[in-house]
Amino acid sequence: MTIGILTAGGDCPGLNAVIRAVGTRAAHSDAGPILGFRNGWQGLVEGDLLELDREAVRGILGRGGTILGTSRYDPFVHGSGIDEVRAGFERHGLSALVVVGGDGTIRTARLLDDAGLPIIAVPKTIDNDIPATDVTFGFDTAVQIATDAVDRLTTTAEAHHRVMLVEVMGRTRGWIALHAGMASGADVILIPEHPLPLPEAAEYISTRDRTGHHYSVVVVAEGYPSPMARRLPVDDFGFERLGGVAYAVAPVLEDLTGFETRVTVLGHLQRGGTPTAFDRVLATRLGVAAADLALAGRHGLMVAVRGEDIVPVAMSEACIEPKGVPADLYDVARTMFG
Ligand code: F6P
Repeated sequence: MTIGILTAGGDCPGLNAVIRAVGTRAAHSDAGPILGFRNGWQGLVEGDLLELDREAVRGILGRGGTILGTSRYDPFVHGSGIDEVRAGFERHGLSALVVVGGDGTIRTARLLDDAGLPIIAVPKTIDNDIPATDVTFGFDTAVQIATDAVDRLTTTAEAHHRVMLVEVMGRTRGWIALHAGMASGADVILIPEHPLPLPEAAEYISTRDRTGHHYSVVVVAEGYPSPMARRLPVDDFGFERLGGVAYAVAPVLEDLTGFETRVTVLGHLQRGGTPTAFDRVLATRLGVAAADLALAGRHGLMVAVRGEDIVPVAMSEACIEPKGVPADLYDVARTMFG
């Protein structure tokens, strides 16, 4: 049996741990070396691949990025859809394909699997917004990087009596902002799901000032709604490209509080570099589970985290609205503002 693997969409710390796990598990079975397609769906369509035997996947567990490369190429948008992917399956004699991707990639995988191409999805994103799984790998690393950054910005905010506004990723969801903000003791956290009006945010900062704390740190998620935020064209998956909302929020906070307000946009720093131990373990467990499903001839499934377990769920369960921060969790975070 021949198992293929590809990584698609934005990269995420832990992708190489998944590739290592799938390759190693397959090598320990009769399946033999797996085929790794370069740059997402594009590699499958164009026949751009490398053989991943046990040796090829050694030494990559802690490496950031993906040894396969990735792209936002979508066969339904940029190519001829099912036909070109089917031709790729046939050319390489694939009995199963493991697809490591976010919501856009999983939607595409589901359509292809419904059309008879056996696929197993492994969810990945730093945004932690994929439904049907408790958590995604990459999130923990992004939160740790953002937490370290906010910790550092806090000391310089205090020294200069400024407001530091830190923008983090997360697309339309505020998971990274919420967790990094809570972990670093940020004074205000602004997220898209429960958008605190800026006058209320400013009140926390002014109250701190009145009580002797002449600085504040605010974490804002890139998807926080602001009429003044710049609008960018959509990406290849049709998602709105975000980034820079902090530059629209900062002058408003400055006007409302009188504090000099400085912006730091963390951007792709949150996706680069080595994964945390948590993400390495999670990615390894998901990779082994995906390989086991492929070896068992099962497909149409996504491997998911449920409590302490890794379980298969229908891919369709992940193809709904992105998972958002619940109101009660935001309320807990808000208790600590100011
Ligand atoms: O989905 C992951 C993510 O990092 C989002 O948080 C962010 O909005 C987006 O990808 C950025 O994508 P790109 O690297 O294509 O600009």
